[in-house]
Amino acid sequence: MAKVKSKWVCTECGYETAGYLGKCPECGSWGSLVEETQFVSSKDSKTQDEFINREKPELLKDIQIGEEVRVSTNISEFDRILGGGLVQGSITLIAGDPGIGKSTILLQTSGELCKNNKKVLYISAEESASQLKLRAQRLDINSDNLYIYPQTSLESIKAQIEETLPDVVVVDSIQAIYSQNISSSAGSVSQIRECCNILMQIAKSKNITVLVIGHVTKDGSIAGPKVLEHMVDTVIYFEGDKYKSYRMLRSMKNRFGNTSEVGIFEMHSNGLQEVKNPNELFLNERSQVAVPGSAIIVTNEGTRPLLVEIQALVGTTPYPSPRRVTNGVDTSRVLQILAVLEKRVGLNLSKQDVYVNVTGGIDVSEPAADLGIALAVATCARDVVVDPQTVIIGEIGLSGEIHPVNNIEKRLNEAVTSGFKKAIIPFANKIDYEKIDIVPVKRLIDAISACVSKV
Ligand code: TYD
Ligand code: MG
Repeated sequence: MAKVKSKWVCTECGYETAGYLGKCPECGSWGSLVEETQFVSSKDSKTQDEFINREKPELLKDIQIGEEVRVSTNISEFDRILGGGLVQGSITLIAGDPGIGKSTILLQTSGELCKNNKKVLYISAEESASQLKLRAQRLDINSDNLYIYPQTSLESIKAQIEETLPDVVVVDSIQAIYSQNISSSAGSVSQIRECCNILMQIAKSKNITVLVIGHVTKDGSIAGPKVLEHMVDTVIYFEGDKYKSYRMLRSMKNRFGNTSEVGIFEMHSNGLQEVKNPNELFLNERSQVAVPGSAIIVTNEGTRPLLVEIQALVGTTPYPSPRRVTNGVDTSRVLQILAVLEKRVGLNLSKQDVYVNVTGGIDVSEPAADLGIALAVATCARDVVVDPQTVIIGEIGLSGEIHPVNNIEKRLNEAVTSGFKKAIIPFANKIDYEKIDIVPVKRLIDAISACVSKV
């Protein structure tokens, strides 16, 4: 007879415990544990023998590997993030906030895959077939090879995949489908894990490429895609400011390619369009006259360098302890740079509020942005400007020394393409380069005197 078992599961990280806890001991989230009930079959353990797979392990040297087959999505930004297209038989998770454009990009991708003679089965668990048809019309997708299946039951989906035998399956979304084998509701950690597991088995056993959509949730009411990350082959986050039109695809995990690649799209009335030259997009919002507290850096996101503006605002604080607010850069990194500026450059920030912002809504995580952040803060504090034709590249050490960065030539090429005339670079990266005026610097203080002028 089946008995009911109850457990508490963290919707953020999947941590399980027997009783309720206010804070998850694994990921530290508050109020993220929800109760899930499960029917456990009380079968005799001897009868479990039938579940044992009698396959033997193989010697590594004897294992034959098939050729990795990639399918192009015809969307070059998407292909680049995937490492050159979708790998056949792989499972990819596309995660992002609701309304960011996940269904749109995957419907467009489905349309393009059909043009490459692939049979695509789009499982729509959130929208009806007619809603999808309307969206497809808006995106100008008209294909004989695209099957739409509005369904939420995993068992029906599995049966349909076996019957249709498509090349690619899109599941929109993993939180809306459910398996009869699990008693908890759709969107719970157990449900999405089970559904992902079954989809993974289908992908591997039938060599079908599976694309799964997962909503990122902040309130914790439905389980987030975090709990699936370790199961799938590729994890792609769809990010961006919902209030601005551009979106960024960022690969966080890729078993078949580079991570930290970004692809940039812009949302139009007829769908997402690739942005071939993102620097224009990020820099055209920049003020044309030089202002204190602005520095242009060249960050290297994946294989492509990006020019972005760092802005800083420094002012006397009205609070007992000064505020440090950052947007797009890591706060602790900024705190470290501020400490170096105080100690090695003599800039007194102890009574000053400091705000640092990366324009364009993008996140800059690499240390090569340090020097740009330091110069933005220093110029604002001293009311001077960085020459607007200059790009700043370099990592700052705790003694105020400038460390080298990778891919310097690629970054400089990008600065030249965007019309910059001068580059402040780490001394250790010094190269012969004629197209731009290069200023190699050893210390933070040298960088400040090399590129700063009075307003
Ligand atoms: P959608 O793909 O439905 O988001 P998700 O699946 O991630 O929840 O995108 C929703 C938003 O995109 C919606 O606010 C409308 C907008 N949109 C456009 O601006 N142009 C378009 O062509 C389409 C299809 C959507
Ligand atoms: Mg959607």
